[in-house]
Amino acid sequence: MIDTAVEHIPVLLSQVLEFLQVRKGGIYVDCTVGLGGHSEEILRQLEGSGRLIALDRDKEALERARERLRSRYQNFQLFHENFKNLPIILPQLGVQCLDGCLVDLGVSSHQLDSPERGFSFQLKGPLDMRMDKHQKSTAADLVNQLPKERLAEILWRYGEEKAARRIAAAIVQRRKTAKLRTTTELAELVEQVKGHAQGRIHPATRVFQALRIEVNQELAGLEEFLQQAIGLLAPRGRLVAISFHSLEDRIVKTVFQKEAGKCVCFRPPEFCTCPRVENVQILTKKPVTPDPEQIMRNPRARSAKLRAVEKLKTGDRRQEETGDRRLETGARSQNSGARIQEPESRTQNSELRT
Ligand SMILES: C[S@@+](CC[C@H](N)C(=O)[O-])C[C@H]1O[C@@H](n2cnc3c(N)ncnc32)[C@H](O)[C@@H]1O
Repeated sequence: MIDTAVEHIPVLLSQVLEFLQVRKGGIYVDCTVGLGGHSEEILRQLEGSGRLIALDRDKEALERARERLRSRYQNFQLFHENFKNLPIILPQLGVQCLDGCLVDLGVSSHQLDSPERGFSFQLKGPLDMRMDKHQKSTAADLVNQLPKERLAEILWRYGEEKAARRIAAAIVQRRKTAKLRTTTELAELVEQVKGHAQGRIHPATRVFQALRIEVNQELAGLEEFLQQAIGLLAPRGRLVAISFHSLEDRIVKTVFQKEAGKCVCFRPPEFCTCPRVENVQILTKKPVTPDPEQIMRNPRARSAKLRAVEKLKTGDRRQEETGDRRLETGARSQNSGARIQEPESRTQNSELRT
């Protein structure tokens, strides 16, 4: 029996519900079910009608979510899947379009609090960091095998770590004598390079974020996925995305702007290549962030940013320019859900039906 009694506070819960506007009888997808906090509230609002399809690439998370939800609800299905496979999964379930879709990016508190998963620099555990244990490469593989330059690039690009080169050099120096095997070994090494924490942020925070993003390929394909998710929404359907760092938020913001028909290339109009087709209306002019009370109850929510869009009805769409090239580009982004190739990494026997 899995212990689901541990208090779990879903991030920006009331705001997620406010923007999703769950309708009875609707079809919703929670792309990142985690411990099932947001899913539980969506199901509560569905009041036994409609359907919730929930995914996670972490099998342990799915088991926990199942324990949490199954005693009270029947109208949900859980799948061990990467959300990037959504355009493949939905047709298999006979679903053509969605009334709402939630993606709450990043790691769950369960992953962070489990030392054996290796996500936390504060808890001693193997340097693992895989969300899906079927994946081959762990964080230990990266730090012990990658060339110095590639390591530095990852720390810089995904952690925006200023000391990326020095840390990469120290890692490579260290592994000449002994491999780095645990979270705390790496955290201590980073601390030696950067010095002790000056403020509230631990010196290894950015290094761990960068390695986690690389291990799980968190940013790869995110833009394409968001475009496809919008393509799968029914008219008036809503997509809500929560991100936890600026790299993710930038991608969410840019896709939403592009799909709202705005220019995201910032070139002079005559050189602009943006589709300029309005597929959605942006519901959050600025990202929604947790209030101080929410942060006090759940400090991990402090960097959360929520953005939401609503799919327009065909009649509502406005084409800024009607040149052939622009029309073509717009049509491609609307129908992109149908174009995905099945990725090799798709897990087999992944269904966990309840
Ligand atoms: C922040 S947690 C979600 C918490 C959840 N909303 C709740 O209320 O408990 C993020 C979850 O997304 C999962 N995840 C991250 N990237 C994913 C992906 N590409 N596909 C599927 N699940 C993913 C992680 O395994 C983790 O369980």
